[in-house]
Amino acid sequence: MSTTATLSFSDGSPSVEFPVLKGTIGPDVIDIKTLYAKTGKFTYDPGFMSTAACRSAITFIDGDKGELLYRGYPIEQIATQCDFLETCYLLLNGELPTAGEKAAFVDNVTHHTMVHEQMQFFLRGFRRDAHPMAVLTGMVGALSAFYHDTLDVNNPEHRHIAAIRLIAKMPTLVAMAYKYSIGQPMIYPKNDLSYTANFMRMMFATPCEEYKVNDVLVRALDRIFILHADHEQNASTSTVRLCGSSGTNPYAAIAAGVACLWGPAHGGANEACLVMLNELQAAGGVAKLGEFIAQVKDKNSNIRLMGFGHRVYKNYDPRAKLMRETCHEVLGELGVGNDPLFKLAMELERVALEDEYFIARKLYPNVDFYSGIVQRALGIPTALFTAIFALARTVGWIAQLNEMLADPDQKIGRPRQLFTGSAPRQVSPIAQR
Ligand code: ACO
Repeated sequence: MSTTATLSFSDGSPSVEFPVLKGTIGPDVIDIKTLYAKTGKFTYDPGFMSTAACRSAITFIDGDKGELLYRGYPIEQIATQCDFLETCYLLLNGELPTAGEKAAFVDNVTHHTMVHEQMQFFLRGFRRDAHPMAVLTGMVGALSAFYHDTLDVNNPEHRHIAAIRLIAKMPTLVAMAYKYSIGQPMIYPKNDLSYTANFMRMMFATPCEEYKVNDVLVRALDRIFILHADHEQNASTSTVRLCGSSGTNPYAAIAAGVACLWGPAHGGANEACLVMLNELQAAGGVAKLGEFIAQVKDKNSNIRLMGFGHRVYKNYDPRAKLMRETCHEVLGELGVGNDPLFKLAMELERVALEDEYFIARKLYPNVDFYSGIVQRALGIPTALFTAIFALARTVGWIAQLNEMLADPDQKIGRPRQLFTGSAPRQVSPIAQR
């Protein structure tokens, strides 16, 4: 039996009914598309606290349980049984690949990793001390100037090729931005390496010295990519959808996602978290924990515990658990299991999880709490952390963008507002103002 919701008004206006839609799992959704037509009223929901802006079959989060599913598969299984390119295939196509499908997909991505040679000249226009996210936002947007042949979003073939290009070229662009910032020559992709090993080589090899691939470290970075690959309708994904809803090309829409991700409340949190841990360590480390937590709890201090809290998770972020395990593996492999920053992070986590402030607000570690320590151990500089996140999230952005474009209900996104400015008034001559 279909359910309806009735909206009634205390001023005597007639009640109106709306259908209630059921998803496969998760909360039901009241379909208010016709609210304005029926009542002349809008809804008010800043920050989309209660608004489902689309239908999606890609990723599901149960924030109370701390559950994350990619196309129905638990993140714990994906992260331990699949690699990043299999995850990409799953997010894009809805099913895990067979061995043959995987080989064809990997081959396709591998043969799109080079970028147009002229992108190097474009890169050289940036200051060398620019933030990598500033460079990446520009470079991803610039792809639309270099790949004119895949700009028609109404053409499924164009959408497919643009998706492969973006997934394939993102590691090359991130590594180029890094090499440029340290004054080293760009390292070209190498097709006999895996996606993630290739990225590490482009980051750390030089023309004088080959990079020795370490499987444990490659696997750790691959896991970081998997854990960041998609997270349903977060700020950057919603930005990509809204930007793409105008019919703009995929490169421009993904560049908008990169720009949104940069913010410290979103993808910038892993960088901010490591900066926080370093500062706390310099100030005295574990001995100063109590003082620091008191500052975090003080509303006038404007200090937040970075890597803690989440709009959706009101339980332990399942990605943070996997990231903590990865942290152990990487530090063990590198023989730095006693890393003071890791110890500080674990102690900070323990203290916060026992503190009434965090318990009452259901604030738990999110994925960024440990990912910075892993990346630092891998040799990735702090300023590049968010770019790594962007690299990994690109597949999620594209899968969501393409899902939206293929949806027959798709319309240009156009939120409404509650206007609180001046009522109509007349311009007076300047001498009388
Ligand atoms: N440290 C201290 N207090 C916090 C924190 C934190 N990290 N996060 C939330 N709170 C407090 C708020 O002050 C608020 O307290 P109040 O009710 O007494 O006013 C309460 O918890 C609710 O917080 P909101 O900001 O309203 O929650 P919201 O859902 O809007 O914010 C967010 C979520 C932005 C992630 C927030 O928790 C935060 O700023 N965390 C730190 C940054 C971070 O780690 N971001 C990464 C997010 S995950 C990702 O993008 C991959």
